[in-house]
Amino acid sequence: MEKVIWDDSFSVGVRELDEQHKKLIAMLNTLIEAGNVDVKSEIVSDTLMKMSEYAKVHFTTEEEYMLSFGYPEYDVQKQQHREFKKKTAFTAFDTTEHQPSVPMELVLFLKDWLTNHILISDMKYRSFFEKKGVV
Ligand SMILES: [Fe+2]
Repeated sequence: MEKVIWDDSFSVGVRELDEQHKKLIAMLNTLIEAGNVDVKSEIVSDTLMKMSEYAKVHFTTEEEYMLSFGYPEYDVQKQQHREFKKKTAFTAFDTTEHQPSVPMELVLFLKDWLTNHILISDMKYRSFFEKKGVV
């Protein structure tokens, strides 16, 4: 599976959120690499746990920006974040308990979710925060 390379097309225009997205992508790439070398799933479950923990931190930061500037699609974002948290919590557990190797299906889900979320949902707030003068 191809790794995700963060470039300017991923930039949402808010430095702190870009940095957090970069970290999430780095964790995702660790999972993609693990798949390529077929390592034991402990590495995957550890990274997955870290990734879901860090995603929570990131969602909270993002939602705080949205709330303090009155972003109109806050509820939509909140709901998407909630779904993601639910999904990763369950799959992290499953990975630890039952999977002897890297579940590529899960890595693919994370890759699709994260890239689509940043490039489609998050990108919608780019011009909003720009107009508010947030950098
Ligand atoms: Fe985000």
